[in-house]
Amino acid sequence: MPLPLQTDRLSLRGFAAADGPALFGYLSQPQAVEFEPYDVCTLEEAMTLAADRAQDPAFVAVHLRDDDRLVGNLYLAPHAHPDWATWEMGYVFDPREWGRGYATEACQALIDLLFTERSAHRVVARCNPENPRSWALLERLGLRREAHLLAAASFAMDADGQRVWHDTYQYAQLDHEWRADRASRGLG
Ligand SMILES: CC(C)(COP(=O)(O)OP(=O)(O)OC[C@H]1O[C@@H](n2cnc3c(N)ncnc32)[C@H](O)[C@@H]1OP(=O)(O)O)[C@@H](O)C(=O)NCCC(=O)NCCS
Repeated sequence: MPLPLQTDRLSLRGFAAADGPALFGYLSQPQAVEFEPYDVCTLEEAMTLAADRAQDPAFVAVHLRDDDRLVGNLYLAPHAHPDWATWEMGYVFDPREWGRGYATEACQALIDLLFTERSAHRVVARCNPENPRSWALLERLGLRREAHLLAAASFAMDADGQRVWHDTYQYAQLDHEWRADRASRGLG
């Protein structure tokens, strides 16, 4: 992915090991990880995570252009067969920064890049139906809900040691849908 990438308010770039304390700032908050397959982290774990993510091109750090604060991260990786030009997207933003459109702005920039410069055929994302902020974001981005998978994922066990299953919504956008969405917004 050709990074860094600038949007009106944001700078998208690879992680640096020095992002550890800022990563801890939001991954230590229960709201940020409620629907993630991991729990809140300690500062030490966040330092290790930032160093790991600095080596992993799938993770994109999102900073404010104004003051260079880390406000969240995206995840973007090839999905399924490499020849299918399909990418899976994920996101976690700092709960203190929700409601400002940062996730929409950052995800839209990556999606636009995928369809313009990476000849993407399809972008997919999955989320828990009980996470309306997540699927509202996907719908704002123009992705289409294409499946409601029943008891399709599990990140936790109950008090009796039984797996707790939850449903999954699958969203997608195809290249021609992205083009039509842009045209409908007057972006040609
Ligand atoms: C999913 C997540 C990224 C969505 O964050 P968000 O703040 O709701 O999304 P955005 O940044 O796009 O902001 C949209 C909101 O900002 C408002 N907004 C303000 N300025 C805006 C702008 N310039 N552009 C777009 N929206 C704007 C919108 O009206 C919307 O408000 P609403 O929440 O009252 O409807 C966030 O909830 C999150 O990080 N959750 C934890 C991680 C997670 O669950 N990840 C998904 C796992 S499947």
